[in-house]
Amino acid sequence: MTDLYFGGDYNPEQWPPEVWKDDVALMRQAGVNLVTLGVFAWSSLEPEPGRYEFGWLDQVMDLLHDGGVQVDLATPTASPPPWFSLRHPDALPVNASGVRLTHGSRDTYCACAPAYREAAAGIATALAERYAKHPALAMWHVHNEYGTSCHCDHAAAAFRRWLRGRYGDLDRLNAAWTTAFWSQGYADWEEIQPPRATQYLVNPTQALDFRRFWSDELLDAFREQKAILRSFTPDVPITTNFVFGGWVPVNQARWAAEVDLVAIDHYPGSADLGAEEQTAFGADLARGWAGGRSWLLMEQAAGAVNDGHRMHAKEPGRMTRHSLSHIARGSRGALFFQWRASRGGAEMFHSGMVPHVGADSRRFRELAEFGAMLPRLAELEGSEVEADVAILWDAEAWWALQATHLPSSDLDYLAAVQAAHRQFWAAGIGVDLVDPGADLSSYKLVVVPGLYLVSDQAAASIARYVEGGGHLLVTYFSGIVNEDAQIRLGGYPGAFSEVLGVRVEEFHPVAAVGLASGGRGRLWSEHVNLAGADAVDRYAGGVLDGMPAITRNAYGEGVAWYVSTQLEDEAYGALVGQVMQGSGVERIELPAGVEMVRRRAGESAWTVLINHGEVEAAVLVSGFELLSGTAVESPLKLAAGGQAVVRA
Ligand code: GLA
Repeated sequence: MTDLYFGGDYNPEQWPPEVWKDDVALMRQAGVNLVTLGVFAWSSLEPEPGRYEFGWLDQVMDLLHDGGVQVDLATPTASPPPWFSLRHPDALPVNASGVRLTHGSRDTYCACAPAYREAAAGIATALAERYAKHPALAMWHVHNEYGTSCHCDHAAAAFRRWLRGRYGDLDRLNAAWTTAFWSQGYADWEEIQPPRATQYLVNPTQALDFRRFWSDELLDAFREQKAILRSFTPDVPITTNFVFGGWVPVNQARWAAEVDLVAIDHYPGSADLGAEEQTAFGADLARGWAGGRSWLLMEQAAGAVNDGHRMHAKEPGRMTRHSLSHIARGSRGALFFQWRASRGGAEMFHSGMVPHVGADSRRFRELAEFGAMLPRLAELEGSEVEADVAILWDAEAWWALQATHLPSSDLDYLAAVQAAHRQFWAAGIGVDLVDPGADLSSYKLVVVPGLYLVSDQAAASIARYVEGGGHLLVTYFSGIVNEDAQIRLGGYPGAFSEVLGVRVEEFHPVAAVGLASGGRGRLWSEHVNLAGADAVDRYAGGVLDGMPAITRNAYGEGVAWYVSTQLEDEAYGALVGQVMQGSGVERIELPAGVEMVRRRAGESAWTVLINHGEVEAAVLVSGFELLSGTAVESPLKLAAGGQAVVRA
């Protein structure tokens, strides 16, 4: 049994040495066992090119080790020092409008610039040389939240190299990018540019390839550092913290194979129950990237989350509930940004484990209680999260759906996937978020929300899954384009028309639309023709009055459902209930507001229950409750805001 990790980003360079001893004492008090050190310490470690100052870090590493705290040592390459930018102006990033950014924030570099790559390798080598044998070193944390992109000439040259690798010759590129449209045909590779600011709509395939290129380019940059660190410490795990967002040009599902442990940062930006949903979604996604294995919540906020506009305070108990939700869904612990809230700098109002007021505070006490709770959960490590349902998730489909030419700018891939996830989350049904090309055979139900772009191989594998007896639910605006972001002709939803037994003629974006069943849809509707499927529900009113809205098709041994609008939650929940009926997915009675996750290892099973509601809830479960260390009988009474982990 291994201990779960508990701790966070530790930035001692922001504080005088007198504070460091207090820090370690407080960490011991709270039960902290792992800190991420030095993420943004480049200018403190290398104040001038090639002159290193490791004295302070030596001291901190020793102090932590003496205090029993392990170190996840970071390479500080997400924020080069001012001297670097001054010496290498060509390594400063250029945005799509051609503006070269200046030093003054963080992440201000172009990852394609040779000088940047060289400097990054230099500091990674120096750190590895110095600390390879340090007993506190437990993990390497490469960089921070890979996610920047740039449109400079270095990036243009690297983009062209990548395109040559993908397409081989220009004819193939011209065909894939449909450059015959608007006279964009390329006769020489040098003519190709990154998608910079232009007059009107951008070529969608060029924009999509640029995202793909950046994902691969950043991955190369990660690999360079990984190789250096590995050569010094073959046995120390290496990771980087994945950040999640529509702007991020990193395909985490593809990167996951390159890290020893998938790690994510998670900052739900919602004040209400949306934050709990987002937490569960982010955690399920991380587990998907990790291929079902355990992963690590590398960062979350100890207190208030700042969504860029305002802070959302975490009420008492909420930090514990979010952390437990992550752990229940496979995280090997809970870490935070950051240990001590900064007194200055751009993120001084970001909450810390030790808040501005000091350790004599509600927040610190809750953290210490949580730290004491964690060892009781160690037996969860190694067990698997149970999930009969898979929802497909694909970064490239998301990027493709961020294009500027779509039939509605309200089409939102993330929202479509989250809406699907929400239905199962609310019902306490385990869901894996998996890649469209994944082996689906172990799932009783597969949901494909808004998968605008899908490859032929993935579409074929989904069809085989249904043919073999699987149950499938596809939602509107799926299967529309191939990997080149070109329309699949012959009727939407192209890639899935046959398995769904429908042929869609036209799209009808709407504000809202009624259904014969009384349910409601919004945003979108489609002119659906039946081509083998049965209509389960029909549009009521409007231009599509009487036409099929929801369909069901028997295909091979399985069943494939299609819903051609964005159902409102109540109707969506009802549909999911209907779809699950024949699928064998087990449904349980769960009080509203209670989150449930089941884990299993051989004959042992655990049920994690978290009551996000404001009233006590009764759940039909019995066994040994790990947090209290007592036997519990059914029905288990779960206090408002309370949690339980029951071993059956
Ligand atoms: C991210 C970063 C941290 C910090 C936090 C809070 O996750 O990795 O450095 O900026 O967000 O904003």
